[in-house]
Amino acid sequence: KSGHSDESSQPMLPVVNRRKLEEFLEDFQLDMQTLRKLMKLMKQEISKGLDEATSTEAVTKAFPPFVSHLPNGTENGEFLVLDFDGDHLKAVHVKLQDRRVSVMESERYTFSSDSKTGEAKNKLFYFIADCTNQFVKGFDLSEKTLHTALIVAFPCKYDGPQTVRLVKWTKEINHQGVVGEDLHSLLREALTERRKEKWATPHKFDNLGKLEVVSVVNDAAGTFMSVADKVPNCKIGLIVGNGLNACYVKDLTHVETDSPDDDKQHEIIVNTELGALGENGCLDFCRTAYDKLLDEQSNFHESQVLEKMVGGRYIGELVRLVLEGLTREGLLFRSVPSRDALFKRDSFSTELVLKVENDTEEPYKQTADTLNGLGVKHFSQEDLQTVRHVCKAVCERAAFLTATSLATLIKRIKQPEVIVVVDGYLYRRHPRFHDLMYSKTLELVKPELKVSTLLLWVKFSC
Ligand code: GLC
Repeated sequence: KSGHSDESSQPMLPVVNRRKLEEFLEDFQLDMQTLRKLMKLMKQEISKGLDEATSTEAVTKAFPPFVSHLPNGTENGEFLVLDFDGDHLKAVHVKLQDRRVSVMESERYTFSSDSKTGEAKNKLFYFIADCTNQFVKGFDLSEKTLHTALIVAFPCKYDGPQTVRLVKWTKEINHQGVVGEDLHSLLREALTERRKEKWATPHKFDNLGKLEVVSVVNDAAGTFMSVADKVPNCKIGLIVGNGLNACYVKDLTHVETDSPDDDKQHEIIVNTELGALGENGCLDFCRTAYDKLLDEQSNFHESQVLEKMVGGRYIGELVRLVLEGLTREGLLFRSVPSRDALFKRDSFSTELVLKVENDTEEPYKQTADTLNGLGVKHFSQEDLQTVRHVCKAVCERAAFLTATSLATLIKRIKQPEVIVVVDGYLYRRHPRFHDLMYSKTLELVKPELKVSTLLLWVKFSC
């Protein structure tokens, strides 16, 4: 994607109301000075994570995934990728041959809320094993030897190639009993248990025989590795989906935390866990009252502070909290009896924010449909514009904060040309996220980088 900005679709509100609204949303505006201050903080935090003496207390991390070599295009064979985001598992059968990646089949499974109680650790991994069984059976893969990788959208720490501990849950996911556990063993054990059950219930788990779990990788690192052979100059992987995270490639000689002792390895991927920034209070100076309200409702207080300002898991609720505030102040839905429909937590999802943000033409039918769907049946054209304004302010801040994270990493890798691989539905589906993030990143890294030297590469999706 290249960078060009789109300043269309400015909602037009009567001047007086517009001024009041702008005042209300003022704290969401981050000027260049604030963003530069943030870059400095990020830089310090990342350095803390990299330094052995401070890495334990550092908020952002420098977790090196235990990857002995980056892909170089010589990898061939068939693989099974299991991508787990806490609520869903995506199973993908891929074939690598002569630098070509072919997605053979893929399927998405939802972890049902019933299974979320009780011995979560086992239920979760039996769920993964059962979906895998179903996938292999459904696509007739049981005769194939498939090397299997588990991609997790959560922070993991590597105690060795075969020991990958979950550091914590994020994005409001909270399955009991898994933090600190080795995900690699849990998956292997669940597959083994299910294989044993095959003897009790013939043919039920016939399909797991030839799977071999070879790695467990964080999603930011996985995103990066998926393009490493095709785009060798790509040094940064960025995720802007439900969560926010980035990894970058660093010369191994400068990484002081535990790292694999493979002499031949010259580079290492560093998973920054950037979304955690602010857990030590360093972002308090730019958080709004709504960020704090959102945090109070969260399963994890004062955790993933930056992510709560950017991630798709939170954007919808942030917008809703602001809309509730405006309604209570009498600046929205003034004459509407059903106005408190929006007072219900999580009723305004990020999907709806995307719908509003993609609704660029008057009379803003999608925005009206969104409000109708939520039970707000009567509203004025001005209300519609106010809702659009709020979505815009919250999303713009998210894009600028992401740009700040990206600019910090770009400065760190010190390369004249930068290629970044990006994934995540917020980035992909928001109409202006790319443009906003791209131009702000360039502004922040000027004069080092120009349009011609920054390329954002959107990860191929299956
Ligand atoms: C959260 C997780 C991180 C993951 C990111 C994107 O920030 O902590 O590990 O990469 O979400 O899914």
